[in-house]
Amino acid sequence: MLCKDIYSALTPVLARYDSEQVCVVCDANVSFESPYPTLTLAVSEQNKSLERVSRIWDFFFEHGLTRRGVVIAVGGGVLTDIAGFAAATYKRGVDYINIPTTLLAMVDASSGGKTGINYHGLKNSIGAFAPPVDTLIWPGWLKTLPVHEFLSGYGEMLKTGLLNTKLWPQFLQYDLDTMDLEALTPLIEQCLAVKGRIVAADPRDSGRRKVLNLGHTFGHALEEISMQNATDSHPMPHGYAVVYGLIAEVYLSVIKTHCPKEPLQQLTQLMLHYYGKPQCKCSDRERLIALMQQDKKNERTAEINCTLLRSVGSPLINQVISPDEASEAFDFLFSL
Ligand SMILES: NC(=O)c1ccc[n+]([C@@H]2O[C@H](COP(=O)([O-])OP(=O)(O)OC[C@H]3O[C@@H](n4cnc5c(N)ncnc54)[C@H](O)[C@@H]3O)[C@@H](O)[C@H]2O)c1
Repeated sequence: MLCKDIYSALTPVLARYDSEQVCVVCDANVSFESPYPTLTLAVSEQNKSLERVSRIWDFFFEHGLTRRGVVIAVGGGVLTDIAGFAAATYKRGVDYINIPTTLLAMVDASSGGKTGINYHGLKNSIGAFAPPVDTLIWPGWLKTLPVHEFLSGYGEMLKTGLLNTKLWPQFLQYDLDTMDLEALTPLIEQCLAVKGRIVAADPRDSGRRKVLNLGHTFGHALEEISMQNATDSHPMPHGYAVVYGLIAEVYLSVIKTHCPKEPLQQLTQLMLHYYGKPQCKCSDRERLIALMQQDKKNERTAEINCTLLRSVGSPLINQVISPDEASEAFDFLFSL
């Protein structure tokens, strides 16, 4: 739910719970004042781990949280994924409310019920479907968000735009140089409506919801390799990986399913202007393909399963691609 003030939006939601049974888990980069016990956590993609979940469980036990209580998760997508997973597994599940504070968490991570952590370098490979009881979205948080995090969130918005013929031109028109929040708010709302409809039809990702994976088969592999690279202290932000993944997957859509070239050209222009080229070496290609073969979305071992596009607004799920096709798509992406 979009709101103008987090505290007044929170009041009716919390009225359902005993005020002694509220715990807050808050991202270290945001400040959220409340009378409730608060665990402030520094989180990142590299520590989206069981260790962080265990700290959250300890905090819940220390404060005597019971199954009738509620957790408030305030932060970016890493925080809401971890805190949501901790809530979903604590005493077999306690309610939680998401308050997303990054663009990416607002338009994607904080709704739809996917929670989880990274494990053995594989993105979100341990997790649970556990929808929050509410998601309260206040775009004002974005005033302090670094530009690259804003662009990262916009990457997920571009994915949603490609799924809808009306949204795509609006998303191309939004001025990423000014990042005006007033003009952004209706676009956030549209993203939530598109995702909400898709998730309602397939909450457990067994069919239609796979359209939301557009860009993510290649994107996750690029993100994982960036995380696994020990010398890289700034791994690729999730939404940047999604933009690179979209380019690879729309490229494959052009050659395999006759998607028009226009969206590929539009994405490429946006990437070159705002996101820069992916920082990967050609020698990473075999590892990237191996990572895609381990993706949790695959229905059979070692198969690479993607969502492609017939055209903007017309996604095709469960498209199997060969390692040679994947390699060709990486060639295209790295040649830009
Ligand atoms: N559950 C889902 O359905 C889903 C969907 C998409 C992405 N995700 C996950 O979301 C994660 C990425 O989320 P993200 O892009 O929000 O990254 P993030 O959570 O790492 O946040 C990015 C950075 O911004 C900081 N931050 C948060 N709010 C801020 C604010 N208002 N002002 C200043 N700094 C702020 C954070 O502390 C962090 O340093 C990935 O782990 C991805 O797998 C989950």
